[in-house]
Amino acid sequence: MRNKKQFLHVAVLAVIIGIATGAIAYWGEWMPEPATREAGRTWFLIWLTTIVCIVIFAIVAAAIVYAVVMFRRKPGDDEDGPAIHGNTKLEIVWTIIPTVIVVALTVVAAVVLHQNSNAGPKPEKIEVTAQQFAWTFKYENGVQTGILNIPKGRHVELWLTSLDVLHSFWVPEFGQKQDTVPGQTFRLVITPTRLGTYPLICTELCGLGHAVMRTSAVVMEPADYDKWLAEQGDKLAPKAAADNPAEAGKAVFTNNGCAACHAFAPAGATGKVGPGLDDMSAAAKAAGQSLEDYIRESIVDPNKVVPKGYPANVMPPTFASLPKDQLDALVTYLANGKEG
Ligand code: CUA
Repeated sequence: MRNKKQFLHVAVLAVIIGIATGAIAYWGEWMPEPATREAGRTWFLIWLTTIVCIVIFAIVAAAIVYAVVMFRRKPGDDEDGPAIHGNTKLEIVWTIIPTVIVVALTVVAAVVLHQNSNAGPKPEKIEVTAQQFAWTFKYENGVQTGILNIPKGRHVELWLTSLDVLHSFWVPEFGQKQDTVPGQTFRLVITPTRLGTYPLICTELCGLGHAVMRTSAVVMEPADYDKWLAEQGDKLAPKAAADNPAEAGKAVFTNNGCAACHAFAPAGATGKVGPGLDDMSAAAKAAGQSLEDYIRESIVDPNKVVPKGYPANVMPPTFASLPKDQLDALVTYLANGKEG
């Protein structure tokens, strides 16, 4: 009779603790709202695990609190507690229950992993290259950008690699992280479900500019994405670049993510990590070079002349590998910035 009452008390206590813990879990802003199908599945798994943990925590905490309060040593009571030997039934129960829970969670996790790596029959393939300290994204038609553009509702297959050290690809709203390793290529599938612009962050300490190694992932309507990709392809075609160098220069500037670090009025760029690019004639003069030569050298060999107040080794030297027509277009575009 007395046992039954004690169980009831512990059960009520467990419900109260469970509700309190659940409220903290539910109303705490632990994670952003998922923006991909993969993140949705991962969130489901996280919540399932959290609920299981809350139930176990509530039962254990209730039993402990009850025991501490009700079975305290009375003043003057110096006797030993009762000697307890094994309880086979209890041991079987507390082995089987956790085993079932862990196996069940493992099965659910395996299903989620399997679904999250399924890219469907015709995914959008994008090559992601990390380098100190920038991201570049190369699309199937050869267009290269510094901002990741992806279509809503389609499977996107990212192939990630690094040119120098370890980096790590992370968009919090996409719910997945992937390290990039020089000499190896890793695959990551994302299926955006929500339009918007999300931060894309390097989450592996990779050197002096690690903190600035960020850009954006933009989820677009599929039709807008197709149109944008085709337009970029046309703009970067050598003939179009020759016809309209300013447009081509702007496309190179935007696509390579220059705006993330530099301010440049004609492109509407307001980055503050690197020096402003609006009028470099004074700097060119100080370096004893023509404006165009100075700009070209600063892109190809950024550490040769580092403007005062800015650290060296932050600007990636790899823009030297831009195709020559794109580099020319960029230099002209920046040199004309004053009038632009
Ligand atoms: Cu790349 Cu941190």
